[in-house]
Amino acid sequence: MEQSGIAASASSKPIPTGRLQGAWADLKTFRQNPPKFLRECKAKYGDTFMGDLIFRKALFTSNPEFIRHILQTNNKNYIKDVAYRQLGLALGNGLLMNEGESWMQQRRLAQPAFYKKRLEGLFDTMVDSGERFFQQFETYRGNSESINITREMNIVASDIALDTLMGGERYGDNLDIQQTISSAQHYIVQRIRFPLSIPLSHINGKYRKFKKDVERFDKIIYEAINTHKKNSTKDNHLLTMLMEARDEDTGEQMSDKQLRDELITIYVAGHETSANALSWTWYLLTQHPEQYQRLKDEVRTVLGNRRPTLADLRNLPYTHQVMEEAMRLYPPAWAMGREALQDDNPAGYTIKKGQTVFVAIANLHRDERYWEKPDKFDPDRFAPERVKARTRGVYMPFGLGPRMCIGNNFALMEIQLLIAMMVQRFDFELDTQHPVEPEALVTLRPKYGVKVFVK
Ligand code: HEM
Repeated sequence: MEQSGIAASASSKPIPTGRLQGAWADLKTFRQNPPKFLRECKAKYGDTFMGDLIFRKALFTSNPEFIRHILQTNNKNYIKDVAYRQLGLALGNGLLMNEGESWMQQRRLAQPAFYKKRLEGLFDTMVDSGERFFQQFETYRGNSESINITREMNIVASDIALDTLMGGERYGDNLDIQQTISSAQHYIVQRIRFPLSIPLSHINGKYRKFKKDVERFDKIIYEAINTHKKNSTKDNHLLTMLMEARDEDTGEQMSDKQLRDELITIYVAGHETSANALSWTWYLLTQHPEQYQRLKDEVRTVLGNRRPTLADLRNLPYTHQVMEEAMRLYPPAWAMGREALQDDNPAGYTIKKGQTVFVAIANLHRDERYWEKPDKFDPDRFAPERVKARTRGVYMPFGLGPRMCIGNNFALMEIQLLIAMMVQRFDFELDTQHPVEPEALVTLRPKYGVKVFVK
């Protein structure tokens, strides 16, 4: 057999160009609604195709074998893509962006703080944050005006993130912190989407504003680090756990800069994703009365009006299923970008060094080969016997392989708890006059929020 490049590529599967209309029209559709664009391409070209987005050619795949290859089997050949690197402007060298040896060392240091047993110690802090938040939520009850539940879920998830990270002491106003970071994120998203706007932003003051936002957050974080150092508290917060973590081999601890990077990373990676998952959950439940009623029955039978305990979560299986199904239909991390360091052959395809590959989780989660009636909201898909019967590697809201979400158990505990606490207290009805459209920036969120009436 011939050993030339042509022979090699002839033996590999061809990768079609995902083209719906013209290149510019496709770029516009992609920007307006990426999941929709990707689904239409998949329907036309299959699970793996090349997106020609004018400024960059990116390969999109929802082929489970391909995905396993790049995220797990041969993950060392891939680094995070350029969009992730833009996030590094704010998040520094935190876990989400770090690479290679340095990432591995950080992950080893941080991992114990996220062990299930350690996280269980944060459960009560989560319940306290939730109770405080839902008290003020009472003012919405019975109002004739609907509220934006997406905004509310962002606030409560931000409260929980800050309380579990740094403790109940207020180093700054939570809402103010959330808005500051959100504004910084907005700037980064603009850089990712419109790379040509970067030089202009250095002239028109947007970059300066971004730097100021990040500095404000830094100030809060360094104050928390210094206070914790002086008081060397024995509390259970993530900051304390990260400060005390030592490398088993070298005995080294994280520097203040590294702590800062990890804290901001955990805050950013952790709260908006959870808030979006909750927001989509309410969007789905308020349109599916039967499933909503079943959830209410479960929560009200198990918990009544009392404060939830950690042990209760195990007795709320349907609540868990609802959460999983919501993240299947609307995965907050809808796509993950990687860049190939060397030529590679995943699942019989050939890809070149430097190629950007997107794992299209949103496509995988609605692939009719693995999910019957994929667009249907059916929490029973996650009943244990059906999970057992399903093909493995087709559900991955938290990613796969060594770079899989470190906060997955944190998120599952938090989301399940908040759903239950809300069901205990309130009833929601969707404001059907308000448009709901998915917007896929860094995370998949409802563009104008989901609005509900609170009863
Ligand atoms: C529903 C909620 C969440 C979803 C859907 C989610 C999803 C993900 C995904 C898909 C990744 C992998 C990204 C990649 O491989 O490119 C990831 C990484 C990460 N997540 Fe989450 N996440 C959630 C909540 C959280 C929470 C609550 C925390 C922290 C408390 C967190 C912290 C992180 C960190 C630090 C990483 C980087 C891990 C590494 O590369 O070592 N996430 N997340």
